[in-house]
Amino acid sequence: MQENETPRIISGKVNPDDVSLDINLRPRKLADFVGQKKVKDNLHIGIQAAHKRGEAIDHILLYGPPGLGKTTLAFIIAGEMGVNIKVSSGPAIERPGDLAAILTNLQKGDVLFIDEVHRLSRIVEEILYPAMEDFALDLILGKGPGARSLRLNLPKFTLIGATTRYAAMSSPLRGRFGSVHRLDFYDETDIGHILKRSARILKLKIDDGSINLVACRARGTPRVANRLLKRVRDYAQVMADGNVNQEITLAALDKLEVDQIGLDEIDRKVLKTIIEKFDGGPVGLDTIAAAISEEADTIESVYEPYLLQLGFLERTPRGRMATRLAYEHLGIKYKRGNTPQSSLW
Ligand SMILES: Nc1ncnc2c1ncn2[C@@H]1O[C@H](COP(=O)(O)OP(=O)(O)OP(=O)(O)O)[C@@H](O)[C@H]1O
Ligand SMILES: [Mg+2]
Repeated sequence: MQENETPRIISGKVNPDDVSLDINLRPRKLADFVGQKKVKDNLHIGIQAAHKRGEAIDHILLYGPPGLGKTTLAFIIAGEMGVNIKVSSGPAIERPGDLAAILTNLQKGDVLFIDEVHRLSRIVEEILYPAMEDFALDLILGKGPGARSLRLNLPKFTLIGATTRYAAMSSPLRGRFGSVHRLDFYDETDIGHILKRSARILKLKIDDGSINLVACRARGTPRVANRLLKRVRDYAQVMADGNVNQEITLAALDKLEVDQIGLDEIDRKVLKTIIEKFDGGPVGLDTIAAAISEEADTIESVYEPYLLQLGFLERTPRGRMATRLAYEHLGIKYKRGNTPQSSLW
């Protein structure tokens, strides 16, 4: 995101505003983490087993679109294991020495959380492989013919990696995680539970109807749900002495220019571009990106997953296609014969 850009209200990515909110609202126990049942069940078993053996839990990779709870889960896992968590990120670990310093400071059982793990450089990854597999750090001492290699043992630790771009990770790195979990968008019921929990923490009285109105627009993303809730709270405070009802909620949400199913200007631009400029597709991601002046990476990891989830977009080997649902949502007449199924490949 460019510096001067106004943060999008429905972006799953972190806004500066979110930071304090995130800390307050972040669940700390697995039991308080709403939804993602499969992931939670598997993690629960992994944590229990590691506890019983008195060992560190196996390396864990969490992936999925922004704002679905990867960082939250990493903290929960460390908390449930009763160990320290050290936090870093792919782009922050620039040189092998940076990683060596982090690794040698770990204690037995610690969790090392590396966010945006797909952005680790190749040379840093190479240090990570033996560390993950053998809990060893291979150092090269000296230079030229006299150089010696030295193997340092590391305490058994758990690496938790998080990424929004699983496909961008190298396969040797992916293969070294003992368990890999994909986080999916939440359904409206789960988002409703998250909103109620957040409202309780924020001491905000809000009726179920208003919760539903917010949940519909949260695009299945807890971070967005919390952000919308906060906007509703602010609006109610200024316009209605803090009382939230459906009328206030609707008025607050309408101000944010997010439509009933959570799409904003950019989502609509992506769809309209495919429909109006490229006849509904198929059209390549880079072409779409160029047409709307966004980065292809951002479209792929931030906007597209939700449009795919809604069934508005379809990925074909020849590019992205807008579906009938997308036309209907935008109120554009659907042209027959343009369905992904019936297109000639
Ligand atoms: N399952 C959940 N239950 C309750 N709250 C949640 C849940 N998942 C996420 N949240 C809330 O959403 C916020 C965003 O989650 P988190 O920071 O863990 O997302 P993330 O997947 O790490 O995003 P990013 O890819 O941007 O790093 C958290 O602060 C937390 O309040
Ligand atoms: Mg995160």
